Amino acid sequence: MSDEASPLPSCHVFIAQSLDGFIARPDGDIDWLLARDTSREDHGYTQFMARIDAIVMGRGTYEKVVEFDPWPYERPVVVLSGSLAEDSVPERLVGKVRILDRSPQEALAGLHAEGCRRLYVDGGKLIQSFLRRGLIDDLVVTVVPVLLGAGRPLFGAVDSDVSLAHESTVSFPSGLVQSRYRVLR
Ligand SMILES: NC(=O)c1ccc[n+]([C@@H]2O[C@H](COP(=O)([O-])OP(=O)(O)OC[C@H]3O[C@@H](n4cnc5c(N)ncnc54)[C@H](OP(=O)(O)O)[C@@H]3O)[C@@H](O)[C@H]2O)c1
Repeated sequence: MSDEASPLPSCHVFIAQSLDGFIARPDGDIDWLLARDTSREDHGYTQFMARIDAIVMGRGTYEKVVEFDPWPYERPVVVLSGSLAEDSVPERLVGKVRILDRSPQEALAGLHAEGCRRLYVDGGKLIQSFLRRGLIDDLVVTVVPVLLGAGRPLFGAVDSDVSLAHESTVSFPSGLVQSRYRVLR
C-alpha cells in the first residue's frame, strides 16, 4: 500500500484459529488456545515480533489482553476503538498502550509519521477491516486441531476476492499447522 504520496507501514498478521475458523469463543474466551500453546515448541512468534515496530489491535483483543499480567508486549500497542475512552488505559499500561478513535488509514499514517515501518495487526474484526482495505501484506495463520462450533471468526465478508500466495506450511508435533501467505495486489 505504501506510495510516496501517503507512505504507510506494512501490516502483518500472526494469529491462531481453530480448524473451523474461530479465533475465540463467542464470549472471547481463548482457553482452548492457551491450553494447547505448548512452550516446548517454537512457533516463530519471537522471530516475528523481532521485526515489528508496533502492534495495532481491535478493542475486542485489547479487552482480553488487558487482563494479562504481566503485560505480554514489549512493543508499543495502539488500540483502535470508537467506544473506549482514551484515558481508560490502566495506570500500569500508561506509556505502553494508546487508544485511538481513527480509521485504519489514519492510524497507519500516524504511526508511519512516528517512524513505525512494520506493524502487527491483531483481532478478527480488525484484520477483516484491514484486508478489505488492502492494508495487510502477509499472514501467518496457525490452525489448532479443535472444532469450537461457534465463536469469533478470523475471516469474514469481503467486497471482492482477496488472492493470496501460499509461501509455506509447517506442522508441529502438537498438531498445530502453520501456513504463511502473502496478499497479492
Ligand atoms: N486466536 C488468536 O490468536 C487471537 C488473536 C487475537 C485476538 N484473539 C481473540 O479474539 C477476540 C477479539 O477479536 P474480535 O474479532 O472480536 O475483535 P477485534 O478485531 O479485536 O476488535 C474489534 C473492535 O475494534 C474496534 N474497531 C475500531 N476500528 C475498527 C475497524 N476499522 N475495524 C474493525 N474494528 C474496529 C471496534 O470496537 P469499538 O466499538 O470500540 O469501535 C470493534 O468492535 C478476543 O477474544 C481475543 O482474545 C485471538
